[in-house]
Amino acid sequence: MKFENVARLDGKVALITGAAGGMGLVAAQLFAQQGAKVMIADFNAEGAAQAAAAIVADGGVAASVGGDVASSADVEKIVATTVSTFGGLHILYNNAGIMMGDDDNPVTTSEDVWDRTFDVNAKGVFLCLKFAIPAMLASGGGSIINVASFVAHMGAATPQIAYTATKGAVLSMTREVAAIYARQGIRCNALCPGPVGTPLLAQLWSDPARKARRVVHIPMGRWAEAEELARAALFLASNDSSYMTGQSLIVDGGIVSSYTTPE
Ligand code: NAI
Repeated sequence: MKFENVARLDGKVALITGAAGGMGLVAAQLFAQQGAKVMIADFNAEGAAQAAAAIVADGGVAASVGGDVASSADVEKIVATTVSTFGGLHILYNNAGIMMGDDDNPVTTSEDVWDRTFDVNAKGVFLCLKFAIPAMLASGGGSIINVASFVAHMGAATPQIAYTATKGAVLSMTREVAAIYARQGIRCNALCPGPVGTPLLAQLWSDPARKARRVVHIPMGRWAEAEELARAALFLASNDSSYMTGQSLIVDGGIVSSYTTPE
């Protein structure tokens, strides 16, 4: 058998939400290097524009659009801008997500924190599916990657109840979308990162005791680099994962598979 050695996303249009920073930004850079035309969508419109300009300066193809994934009107605009700029849509990378500082256990977490976290992390994914799927079908199909988390698979005694619940919702949506569209050329998988060294985590774990309490449970003894998640996302986005749909790809340094960790 002869295997092709070409850029994995040649000719593909990718929409990545929350790509002005963190894991989404690194994925945008990698996807562009692999031949995709990348639309960077983010709440932070200025950061998104800077990220797209940097990719273009590096010889890639990218553009940006500002918007809140929790707003139906914004998501409709994000998808329409992607299609009008690049002529179609093949890869939807639902990466935008938040974890609020005062998200804690069910007794202390406020309804406001619950509602905003669900608006962005769960409804945001739903709205992106709602507007992107018709564009993907019209483009001949493609791949959807929904970012969940290892906490969709296991509980943590250092709690963030609203965040954890949203990531469970993302996993359930992933399976259902995979089942609905499997015969129409759209695959849908979840990417479940362990802790990744991005601004989201740096802000949350700025307290050294809280950080140490969590790192001790990671068999590899460290956070992931954003690039390690971007490579896993590339696998899900490309034809390398052509027979995979409805799955949860856990990239977590061994957390979910271990009971105790090495000394
Ligand atoms: P980050 O906070 O570093 O970056 C998130 C990006 O999303 C930012 O550019 C932000 O402006 C954008 N964003 C936030 N709310 C938005 C909204 N409503 N609409 C549009 N854009 C919005 O986050 P990070 O760490 O890169 O996380 C990316 C995804 O990975 C999230 O879904 C997060 O829940 C998930 N995740 C992160 C982990 C970590 O340890 N960093 C672990 C497991 C999952």
